[in-house]
Amino acid sequence: MTVKNTRQNYGSVAKLLHWSIALLFLMSYCTVYFRHWFTEEKTPENWIALQLHLSVGITVAAIVVLRILWRLSNRVPDPEPGPSWAHRAAHIGHYLLYAVMIVMPLTGYIGTGVNTEYFMLFDIPKFESTVLFDAIVTQGLGMSFEEFEKPIDTFHKEIMGEYVLLLLIFGHIAAALYHHFVLKDRTLKKMTSGK
Ligand code: HEM
Ligand code: HEM
Repeated sequence: MTVKNTRQNYGSVAKLLHWSIALLFLMSYCTVYFRHWFTEEKTPENWIALQLHLSVGITVAAIVVLRILWRLSNRVPDPEPGPSWAHRAAHIGHYLLYAVMIVMPLTGYIGTGVNTEYFMLFDIPKFESTVLFDAIVTQGLGMSFEEFEKPIDTFHKEIMGEYVLLLLIFGHIAAALYHHFVLKDRTLKKMTSGK
């Protein structure tokens, strides 16, 4: 397996970044819904589940920066033969997935009113206590944190978390499985064994 992408396959670094982010997205859902479904408000488990969600989300933010830099410095493997509308749809889908990898951690962070205890190792201050919040939200928009947080929260949780993101990810997975099992081409192999 090569480190960089080739005409045939994604390289080891692109695969590592892709599958780590896929795992972190899964963890972000598991932690938040574990909190909703299996913990009581104001218990230590409830707090730990929230903190794990925040920590996982911030890890995505860090990895996506590396991923974009790596993507820009690498070729993309050649697409499998197919109609041009399908190639265009795949491109748009990938760009939207890159967009959510940025937008989800960002809206999560700016809309959260508590510090992140990053995997219980160190604290990352909440947006509300940064100079950026003061400059942009308090002075620029003239809003309090409560006023600012409401629409951001609705976007992060209700619009993206419950609908748009799930639709995009399931669409992406369905497309990968369709290529593998129905069209029987190398699309999924490029991101896995490469054989
Ligand atoms: C990959 C990144 C992220 C994903 C996919 C994600 C996804 C989600 C989802 C699905 C929900 C629950 C929606 C619902 O209520 O049904 C949620 C809630 C929430 N997220 Fe995120 N999130 C991410 C990053 C972050 C980050 C970085 C923070 C803050 C630092 C954050 C803070 C929150 C908070 C405070 C809630 C509400 C928790 C609760 O209601 O129990 N998220 N997020
Ligand atoms: C079980 C889950 C997943 C499977 C089976 C899967 C499968 C694949 C496959 C086969 C490709 C290569 C497509 C091609 O070359 O045309 C790919 C690319 C990609 N995937 Fe996934 N994926 C999964 C989860 C995710 C998640 C959760 C995200 C992001 C939130 C994601 C984002 C991307 C992006 C952005 C690309 C394009 C890579 C590039 O060209 O830079 N994937 N995925």
